[in-house]
Amino acid sequence: MRSRPIGVFDSGLGGVSVLRNMHALLPKEDFIYFGDDKNAPYGTKSEEEILRLSINDAAFLLEKNVKAIVIACNTATSAAAKHLRETLSVPVIGMEPALKPASLNRKNGIIGVMATPATLKQTKFKLLYEKYGDHAMPIPCPGLMEFAEKGILEGEEIDSFLERTLAPYKEKYNLESVVLGCTHYVFLKGAIQKALPQIKLYDGNEGTARQLKRVLEERNWLKETGEGSVFMYTSGDEAHILPLMQSLFREKIL
Ligand code: DGL
Repeated sequence: MRSRPIGVFDSGLGGVSVLRNMHALLPKEDFIYFGDDKNAPYGTKSEEEILRLSINDAAFLLEKNVKAIVIACNTATSAAAKHLRETLSVPVIGMEPALKPASLNRKNGIIGVMATPATLKQTKFKLLYEKYGDHAMPIPCPGLMEFAEKGILEGEEIDSFLERTLAPYKEKYNLESVVLGCTHYVFLKGAIQKALPQIKLYDGNEGTARQLKRVLEERNWLKETGEGSVFMYTSGDEAHILPLMQSLFREKIL
């Protein structure tokens, strides 16, 4: 079991931001990444559709004989983690917007939660919000992940998109911190921080990597020898997406 790879999937290349943390924490592990770029975005689809696509993503990874599956996508976790945990024989690690740490560290302002419309609509987020959302404001960001998918991490186009999306919240609320509740947004941190100067940004990537380590440790499934490898697959245009994924894997993030 130890020597089998770990499967990771996302609707596209956003989950590569999580893959980076996991690879850094577990450098001896082999990772297989699948981005369903052909069907991205998930965040504006129905829960049933996201579930159906996530089942296919997991099936692709299971065929590669993975020992665990990481859903490196907040949207797919909300729609499919429960089902995948109940039906698959390997452990499934999911993600959720990092509202808990943001709320535990809150001083006196409002916490914005930037995520896809689907993530913010689903029961999983509603439960998290009931627990930690007293001073939080959901900020749905349809259209934002597309910048990362196209490899546009900075520039005028994304700056004005972010200004348009965030201005109403900046004007109305005393934002103290913002949770990046979509793995694609982590690649856009530089542009988001520019639009929200002085505001602390949270993401769940490191927590997910640690959770993966815990799950493997518990089972005694950590690979302890050799150098790890990373293989990437996409359902989209390979010639375009794979080089982009590889460069994002190495990209310096704020
Ligand atoms: N990267 C995804 C997330 O974490 C979803 C983006 C999308 O497909 O809309 O939510």
